[in-house]
Amino acid sequence: MNGNVRPEAMERITTKELALKFIDEQVKLVREQVKDKKVLLALSGGVDSSVVAALLIKAIGKQLYCVHVNHGLMRKNESENVIEVFGKELDANLIYVDATDRFLNLLAGVSEPERKRKIIGAEFINVFADEARKLKGVEFLAQGTIYPDILESFKQAEGKKAVKSHHNVGGLPDDLKFQLVEPIKLLFKDEVRVVGEALGLPHAMVYRQPFPGPGLGVRCLGAITRDRLNALREADAILREEFDNFGLNEKVWQYFIAIPDIKSVGVRDESRYEGWPAIIRAINTKDAMSATIEEIPYNVLHKITARITSEVEGINRVLYDLTPKPVGTIEWE
Ligand code: XMP
Repeated sequence: MNGNVRPEAMERITTKELALKFIDEQVKLVREQVKDKKVLLALSGGVDSSVVAALLIKAIGKQLYCVHVNHGLMRKNESENVIEVFGKELDANLIYVDATDRFLNLLAGVSEPERKRKIIGAEFINVFADEARKLKGVEFLAQGTIYPDILESFKQAEGKKAVKSHHNVGGLPDDLKFQLVEPIKLLFKDEVRVVGEALGLPHAMVYRQPFPGPGLGVRCLGAITRDRLNALREADAILREEFDNFGLNEKVWQYFIAIPDIKSVGVRDESRYEGWPAIIRAINTKDAMSATIEEIPYNVLHKITARITSEVEGINRVLYDLTPKPVGTIEWE
């Protein structure tokens, strides 16, 4: 049987009991597959790689090496959370690489969105490959492939022109050859979350909203600068905090700030204050192919606007994007 096709008889994992049964089976399979060898995993902190990490820590403990690459385009406290959960609580072999300067130097002056994506994807491979070469004797590479990824690659073979290149990373260089470990490749996203909770991962990590591989890089519109990127990170953190406070985080599929490379005139402390606008985007969707706008209550919008314009250096306006997909895509780039 083709291991990439979900058997019709496979039961949908909807409960903790079913998840624990799945975990037991996978722990056995992974142990059989890797024996006493080392396994490498790129741990972004997203749902899929986090669940694979927790599963493999359970199966093979310190034989797993997690590499977390901070490309400098993470949201506020995101890398710190990965270190806290995996490095401290789960006591994983965690290799943390702060590659902020490598990425931001390469991206300086680059404004074309697809070019930015390509640079980020290629540099991610470079950084990860550098770490992989330093570790001797690794034979396996674990990946957070899930079933929609497999279905997607079938569809791509049939081919409509892609609107954006969502595939974040290409293949590893030829000198790095690994066998793959893909324990959740037959699961749908909702099942991955149930498994993640059964593994004891924090709820906020397992139910976090999707975050694109190029991270804040495609929300700091046009050529990325460090000051605008910092403003974006702070404004996004305020948006997320207020969505938590008002209970919108569990309701809205994806919400974030984008900051364009334009300034407008404002006034602060009775003086002229030129700043960027922060654009709020909050959408609902089933499959990210089309999306509708969340109707954020005005009091929430006012609170977010007041906080961002007073707390974030460099921002003097807040705008609310009312465009559904189509015609706008979810991200601005
Ligand atoms: P768009 O902007 O195409 O986004 O309507 C649809 C979904 O995909 C996410 N997205 C990406 N994810 N790499 C990713 O991993 C990317 O380059 C990328 N671009 C968009 C977006 O956040 C939304 O959830």
